[in-house]
Amino acid sequence: MAVWETWRDAMERALYGDGGFYRRGERPGEHFRTSVHASPRFAAALATLLADVDAALGRPDRLDVVDIGAGSGELLVNLLDRVPAELAGRLVPVAVEVAPRPAGLPERIAWLPAPPERVTGLVVANEWLDNVPLDVVEQTPDGPRKVLVEARTGAERAGPEPSADELEWLERWWPLREPGDRAEVGDPRCAAWASVVARLDRGLAVAVDYAHRAGERPVYGTLTGYRDGATVPPVPDGSCDVTAHVALDACQVAGERAGATASLLTTQRDVLRALGLSGSRPPLDLAHRDPRGYLAALCAAGEDAELTDPGGLGGFGWLAQAVGTELPPVLAALA
Ligand SMILES: C[S@@+](CC[C@H](N)C(=O)[O-])C[C@H]1O[C@@H](n2cnc3c(N)ncnc32)[C@H](O)[C@@H]1O
Repeated sequence: MAVWETWRDAMERALYGDGGFYRRGERPGEHFRTSVHASPRFAAALATLLADVDAALGRPDRLDVVDIGAGSGELLVNLLDRVPAELAGRLVPVAVEVAPRPAGLPERIAWLPAPPERVTGLVVANEWLDNVPLDVVEQTPDGPRKVLVEARTGAERAGPEPSADELEWLERWWPLREPGDRAEVGDPRCAAWASVVARLDRGLAVAVDYAHRAGERPVYGTLTGYRDGATVPPVPDGSCDVTAHVALDACQVAGERAGATASLLTTQRDVLRALGLSGSRPPLDLAHRDPRGYLAALCAAGEDAELTDPGGLGGFGWLAQAVGTELPPVLAALA
């Protein structure tokens, strides 16, 4: 017999329930390519940002660096390799992840199922919010209705009216116009992000994700499935990742309500370029003077080009919010 659920319940079970896609330890890198997998130069850029946060905080004795939705922990491993020894000695690296701790992860990286209560330092959430389960609402001739889904097949049908809070979120952030228009109700992501910002005593929280802004939301939504490196229909049966783009502009306001004192919402391309990842080719004469150096620079340029490609990872949104300190100058210059 068919069981009909809201998308939020179906995603929760399919991704994080018993035997769910992430809970059972599927490794993100085997199914899709994030900036973390594209190049260790992403971690190097974050190491630069971390050093800026450290300076802004007056080089405290203990500096937290927290990776939320850490996947296999590669970002922290690469980041620890790229910070100066003096800073590395004061760092407390924490991976927050529902999946089991990977074998071989350096012991000094803590592996927690939930974020630490208090944080002083840098929090990074790369492609976490797009996996926070949410509901889908469709405009019908009778008004907005939650979409119900049948987990085995992905079949859909209209369900109940959204709650008053959901309707308020939709009105503010993703108004529906015509019958058939669909919206992904981002209030659980706003709440998830706000709870991260609220844990910061002093420091910077950064969310990086596929994003859209008010006025530019896709009319039919963005629910997508990923399996083995390919996009697949988003069937919430636990066999694939199920994701939807993030309304980072709404998360920004939620973060401000949770205590952020300075914010930047921009693209990954702008941030990484400001951090020195240009993607430009090395000069040809370097090939004659220093063939190895030329090859290394060429390789780095290729990786930077992928990380900053406006049609790909470079088009991702970067939401950076500071608490108890200013945005680092490199980000403030982009605000
Ligand atoms: C798309 S993957 C991104 C992995 C990694 N950040 C990267 O960029 O390669 C999302 C990860 O977030 C984790 N995740 C989702 N919700 C979580 C939660 N509430 N607590 C901890 N981890 C969570 C999932 O298990 C998954 O590994």
